[in-house]
Amino acid sequence: MNNKLRSRQTKDGIRIYEQSDFAGMHAAGKVAATILDEIAEHVQVGQTTAALDQIITDKVTQMGADSATIGYKGYQHASCISVNHVVCHGIPSDKTLKDGDILNIDVTVIVDGWFGDTSRMYVAGRLPRKAERLIQVTHDALMLGIEAARPGNTFGDIGHAIQSFVESHRMSVVRDFCGHGLGRVFHAPPNVLHYGRPGTGPVLEEGMFFTIEPMVNLGRPETKTLADDWTAVTRDKSLSAQFEHSVGVTAGAPEIFTLSPAQMFHPTYLGG
Ligand code: MF3
Ligand code: CO
Ligand code: CO
Repeated sequence: MNNKLRSRQTKDGIRIYEQSDFAGMHAAGKVAATILDEIAEHVQVGQTTAALDQIITDKVTQMGADSATIGYKGYQHASCISVNHVVCHGIPSDKTLKDGDILNIDVTVIVDGWFGDTSRMYVAGRLPRKAERLIQVTHDALMLGIEAARPGNTFGDIGHAIQSFVESHRMSVVRDFCGHGLGRVFHAPPNVLHYGRPGTGPVLEEGMFFTIEPMVNLGRPETKTLADDWTAVTRDKSLSAQFEHSVGVTAGAPEIFTLSPAQMFHPTYLGG
């Protein structure tokens, strides 16, 4: 064992970053979160998700960043936009938003080689009551998961915090997609499950960087992927929501790299 190695990995293949690497993640996370702040006013009834994606593409360029998703496994857009019963990986399209549609916008950028990955919910027009509940529970579940991201806890503790909260509200956690390590790469170990049992899975250490991105359904948890090979939907067509932050583990409170710089953000204040 050589603790003086500059780049260290755990036995689970999870990279341990240096204190000085947090600054790079904050810079990348800030760009991604700023784009999510600025897209809010464009989410309107009658708007297409393709138009929203074009605005995002332009902002990524204007901010001197690169999109991590354009060209990723053949994906061709700067965002995933997942409307209503779409769970994740919705492809921007010419379909127009209707009053009461809820949507997740997920943006990943690269700044100086660091990845910032974050998503939030938005609404076109008026927010339906059931959707408001779903969005609030999903956001609270993410924040409870982040709260558990401390050294000595396990990834199962994070999953359990999310799952137990969501199920106490009689909603369900999607099992088919998970969060992921990131940093100098987009998707790295570990798989960050949004369900689980306390004390199971890898132990967290200071210097781990990963996303937490729970998807929560009003109905059953099962999903299916459409023929486009990307769009994941709820099998029972129930409404689905998701929030995502990129975080870093410290000796104390977890650092959230993708907090809203405008601080105007609230899970059920959805702009537009
Ligand atoms: N941003 C997504 C995530 O949270 C990944 C999108 S990959 C894409 O991991 F190709 F669909 F854009
Ligand atoms: Co992610
Ligand atoms: Co994402």
